Amino acid sequence: MKQRIQFNEVVTRDGFQMEPEFVHTDIKVAMINALSGCGYAKIEVTSFTSAKAIPMLRDAEEVMGRIERMPGVEYTVLVPNLRGAERAMASRPDEFNLVMSTSETHNLANLRMPRESSFSALREVVQRYREQVPINVSLSACFGCPMEGDVPQQEVLQWAQRFADLGVRGLTICDTTGMAQPVQVAQMCDVLRTRFPDLQLTLHFHNTRGMGLTNVLAAVQSGIDRFDGSLGGLGGCPYAPGASGNICSEDAIHMLDAMGYDTGVDLKRLLLIAGQLPSVVGHEVPGQVAKSGRITDLHPAPPSVAELKKAFS
Ligand code: COA
Ligand code: ZN
Repeated sequence: MKQRIQFNEVVTRDGFQMEPEFVHTDIKVAMINALSGCGYAKIEVTSFTSAKAIPMLRDAEEVMGRIERMPGVEYTVLVPNLRGAERAMASRPDEFNLVMSTSETHNLANLRMPRESSFSALREVVQRYREQVPINVSLSACFGCPMEGDVPQQEVLQWAQRFADLGVRGLTICDTTGMAQPVQVAQMCDVLRTRFPDLQLTLHFHNTRGMGLTNVLAAVQSGIDRFDGSLGGLGGCPYAPGASGNICSEDAIHMLDAMGYDTGVDLKRLLLIAGQLPSVVGHEVPGQVAKSGRITDLHPAPPSVAELKKAFS
């Protein structure tokens, strides 16, 4: 039997949050409904941050209220603080995705507080809501910080442990600005799997330096079976200098399909949605397979000289 690799789609959250032009709420809802039919394990719908910080996602309540929820798909939302948790809870998500950074400087830039303050605030969220909703924590900048440089693995493990001790369901280890390389990824994944065998572990890569899919491969080979991806490769953190797109969902799924893994995602259907993305955001997107077609999409051979002669005769 093929090995299953789960995919979480983050385009309408991580993908859209840095886009300069507001994407109409109707389009966000229609896109999420279409993505729901593709076979994803999870969809990160939106985030309950301040509208001043992330204006693109100011319609979080409305989007959550209007999407059609498909059985089998989990609808998760990003929650930065207690205020966000209160707002998010009212929209009945299947999961809270809390966020903080393992780098002090990145945490200050993104969440405007030291890591200890973020942790205290998030601990309160976990303690207040863990009986009502499963909680995942996304740890940013786990493979390096664009302002501080190296983030020691011990630092990542320490924050992971503190959240594990609070009883969260899962951890997402984020390479927020695409600084990870495959050897480092394999080592991190081995340590995490050994240390947290009961947690749902997700890897979240960005393709900032072209290493996104090699990092997916390194993580898969180290036994990780859950990834975040963004349609078209859109995305990036507005508070991380040089940030660019997430790994492209359809490219990653295409690669894993070709290698014989089962992602559960209907790639053909997904590519039709990906094809609409440039019109949604008003510019080209980095994804490759939506432009080139799948390796199984064969093209007719050019006609021979004899055939051309015949056609003209
Ligand atoms: N939802 C809505 N509004 C919120 C909010 C939330 N979750 N948290 C804070 N606010 C509002 C406050 O009410 C306040 O509004 P006002 O200026 O009208 O009074 C304003 O935001 C500032 O509040 P404050 O408590 O001082 O927060 P802050 O300025 O320290 O910002 C965050 C904290 C986390 C809300 C903000 O930094 C943020 O949203 N950052 C973006 C994080 C993000 O999503 N990054 C990308 C994903 S990795
Ligand atoms: Zn990201």
